[in-house]
Amino acid sequence: MTTVTGTDVLNRIGNTPLVKLDSLSHNSTEYFAKLEGHNPFGSVKDRAAYWMIKDGEEKGILKRGKSILIEPTSGNTGIALTGIGKLLDYKVEIVIPEKVSNETKDIIRNLGAKVFETSDDLCPKVGAGTDQSIALATSIASSRPDTYYSPNQYANEVNFKGHYVGTGPEIWKQTEGKVTHFFTGIGTGGTITGIGTFLKEKNPNIKIIGCQPQQNHLIQGWRNFEESAKPDLFLKREGVVDDWVSVDNNEAFSVVNEVLEKDKLLVSPSSAAVYACMKKYPLDGDACVVGIFADDGRKFKSVYAEQNIMSGEDFDNAIKNATHMSELAY
Ligand SMILES: Cc1ncc(COP(=O)(O)O)c(C=O)c1O
Repeated sequence: MTTVTGTDVLNRIGNTPLVKLDSLSHNSTEYFAKLEGHNPFGSVKDRAAYWMIKDGEEKGILKRGKSILIEPTSGNTGIALTGIGKLLDYKVEIVIPEKVSNETKDIIRNLGAKVFETSDDLCPKVGAGTDQSIALATSIASSRPDTYYSPNQYANEVNFKGHYVGTGPEIWKQTEGKVTHFFTGIGTGGTITGIGTFLKEKNPNIKIIGCQPQQNHLIQGWRNFEESAKPDLFLKREGVVDDWVSVDNNEAFSVVNEVLEKDKLLVSPSSAAVYACMKKYPLDGDACVVGIFADDGRKFKSVYAEQNIMSGEDFDNAIKNATHMSELAY
């Protein structure tokens, strides 16, 4: 039997696989998915969480066995901070909108965090007075600054940096510098600005394309900029985005079974939304298109049943038959 230590787990953050999407690729137009579900706690947010904790330690703000991490999140950052926090001996408290899937909240609780639920929209809104999650986390953190630390992913520069020095170079290397188009959704903007800035420095002709969900959407982890202000982290480098594609709930959910059947991937709603954006984006000539699949489908059994995408039984079979599910996640 091989045992995995905490350090091994942390060493497995990043270097996620890039897989070809046969369903979309044709002739010299190739499509790839960067499978961030392979991070140890199951999403792209392991990167930001790890960088923010490391940064807090380096600045002397965080002390193992003493400090408490508190953060507003729509899910994945909560899972990542709790999982990594547990390995590094931090207590974690997570403020999360009640609309987030029950599976997500259960994972956070099972990993050991205290969870506060609010009646916010799916993605905590930024901007004064618009959001309970951020206000609650800020108020708890400021009441005991000696103990509590909120990394504040919406403005924390190392959230950007983790992608600028990690995910961006990984994509450049994995495509051997051939990437021409990059697609992702936006929560804090760390992913799109970090990867986008790096790729543009390598080749200014690479198109960085942001995916925008409809208002009142069901895409856990994403933000619609008409209903929620842009986070500071995104605002700082928003010029890196060349183009936008809109995607509604229906378009996103309608490709979940298609990707499962054709590419053998059980995708999350946000990955389905990226896929739908890549599929409808007009391209001419040769292209190497990369999309971020920020997590995988395993947390969305209840969501897919509610949306009539898959019965519980079909979901269980999909988990068994899907390829590229990380064995380590959570
Ligand atoms: C589920 C999920 N979480 C997080 C992100 C990225 O978020 P951020 O902009 O905070 O880096 C995405 C973007 O694709 C996502 O789909």
